[in-house]
Amino acid sequence: MTAQLNARGDVAVVVPAAGAGVRLGPGAPKALRLLEGEPLLVHAVRRLAAAPSVRVIVVAAPPAEVEAVHALLAPVAPVTVVPGGAERQESVAAALAVVPPEAAIVLVHDAARCLTPPSVVERVAAAVRDGADAVIPVLPVVDTIKEVDAEETVLGTVDRSVLRAVQTPQGFRASVLRAAHAAAAGLHTDDAGAVEKLGIPVRCVPGSDLALKITRPIDLAVATHLLTLPENGR
Ligand code: CTP
Ligand code: MG
Repeated sequence: MTAQLNARGDVAVVVPAAGAGVRLGPGAPKALRLLEGEPLLVHAVRRLAAAPSVRVIVVAAPPAEVEAVHALLAPVAPVTVVPGGAERQESVAAALAVVPPEAAIVLVHDAARCLTPPSVVERVAAAVRDGADAVIPVLPVVDTIKEVDAEETVLGTVDRSVLRAVQTPQGFRASVLRAAHAAAAGLHTDDAGAVEKLGIPVRCVPGSDLALKITRPIDLAVATHLLTLPENGR
């Protein structure tokens, strides 16, 4: 059933979904690969559309798949689809360019984090609404982390208590994200990184194990299992 978005919501979500998925192995672009019979992008957009604050969703699709992605998502939720770029940052910029000015808050959410629950979307948006310019969902780092030299000899053990693993959606006051993208000289790996370069504080909120990024085949296996848990169903 097509979800209704909240016409009074204050959140636009930009969904970079134009990547190839090289690390997943040969096949369709990653966002179109199937998880329990449905493309990752469908899982992702369904959960975004279930977040009450979301008013607009803009997907950056592989350029050759814009029409197909539009047809695929039409039964899921009303979305705008634009052609993505060669780098994630370009895909985000292409989608950001068509976000309407009414959205005071813009979230950037990887299609590859397709099981991210609506509660995380709302938590990030609420922290921006609460006054933060930039908000990222994070998890503690569970592995011991070593710094090594070029010969793989250990230089030392990093204090992991001050480290965080970063997920999406990352949330921003719309003007802050636009300024960060306009100012970005080189490539950044995440959008909060571009905001950090402007000297603007970035606030952390709790992420979710369900917001794992589908990167390698093992992640698809984990996600398939997670979908069997009743609270994550379609
Ligand atoms: N992405 C994008 N445009 C690109 C590259 C990536 O929109 N040119 C999106 C991906 O579709 C994904 C998100 O950015 O939703 C995170 O990127 P990543 O997990 O690296 O996905 P891919 O680039 O597709 O994977 P790989 O790096 O293995 O090719
Ligand atoms: Mg990539």
